[in-house]
Amino acid sequence: MVLEHLHQMKRIDFTLNPDFSVASIEGWNRIISDLQQEKPIQYILGEAWFYGLPFKVNEYTLIPRPETEELVEWILESRKPESEMMLYQGELRSAFSILDIGTGTGCIPISLKVNLPEAEVFAIDVSEEALKVANENAQQNNAQVHFTQADILLVEDLKKLSAVNDLLPTKLDVIVSNPPYVRNLEKTEIRKNVLDYEPHLALFVEDNDPLVFYRKIAELAIESLKPNGLLFFEINQYLGKETIEMLKQLGYQNIELRKDLMGNDRMIKAKIKDEMKF
Ligand SMILES: C[S@@+](CC[C@H](N)C(=O)[O-])C[C@H]1O[C@@H](n2cnc3c(N)ncnc32)[C@H](O)[C@@H]1O
Repeated sequence: MVLEHLHQMKRIDFTLNPDFSVASIEGWNRIISDLQQEKPIQYILGEAWFYGLPFKVNEYTLIPRPETEELVEWILESRKPESEMMLYQGELRSAFSILDIGTGTGCIPISLKVNLPEAEVFAIDVSEEALKVANENAQQNNAQVHFTQADILLVEDLKKLSAVNDLLPTKLDVIVSNPPYVRNLEKTEIRKNVLDYEPHLALFVEDNDPLVFYRKIAELAIESLKPNGLLFFEINQYLGKETIEMLKQLGYQNIELRKDLMGNDRMIKAKIKDEMKF
């Protein structure tokens, strides 16, 4: 990654022509010294890759993770054929719409928009600084995503967000979130490269209510998903059962738990019960 960044050179190019200029050796020394402090390479270079796309990252944004790519893949797989989506009770439905809550770099909505160009894609985050990065990432990837700043824990009704972002539809097809989910008690498992460098606002929740974001988002989604709308969560691997139980109690159905490639319980898809909608 450093070779590509400093020299625009692939590993094979360097093997064929191992030539460093003095200026670049200084660059290498700076990067090596940051790496010795366990600073993640993505923050050193200011860039990460997600779902085949480049994303700017900084200290206000989480580094996008491979398990989140698996969540994006699941959403893309779940998209219904156009014919099923267009007609509902004889009315022409609005465009396929997606809302991502707690967007960080914007990796989820941007990769969805690039792969579903016809979708209307929205995203919110509490952090103005993260939203600046997300906006730049949307431009860099030519993806139109509508961003709004909001604290989801204070939102009473997603419809009220339409006052801030008048493009946000009152009913959505998909609500997705990878909210903060690491309990303080799990801090001992977290390595220095994460703990010292990634934003704690993006990571941690209180031990006594680790599902606070999930419950709030699932409650808001009852009012804001279209019939047959889907809720997707990335979850804490230790809280799969609890998250499913909470969703059942709220009346969700067809709740599916999936493991990530590492074999950990990592994501949930749930459908709104039709009778909840009327
Ligand atoms: C785990 S990160 C996920 C970032 C990105 N979606 C990803 O998957 O890489 C959680 C995000 O939620 C945001 N966040 C934290 N508290 C929030 C709140 N109360 N309302 C809205 N967003 C919040 C953080 O700023 C952070 O960007």
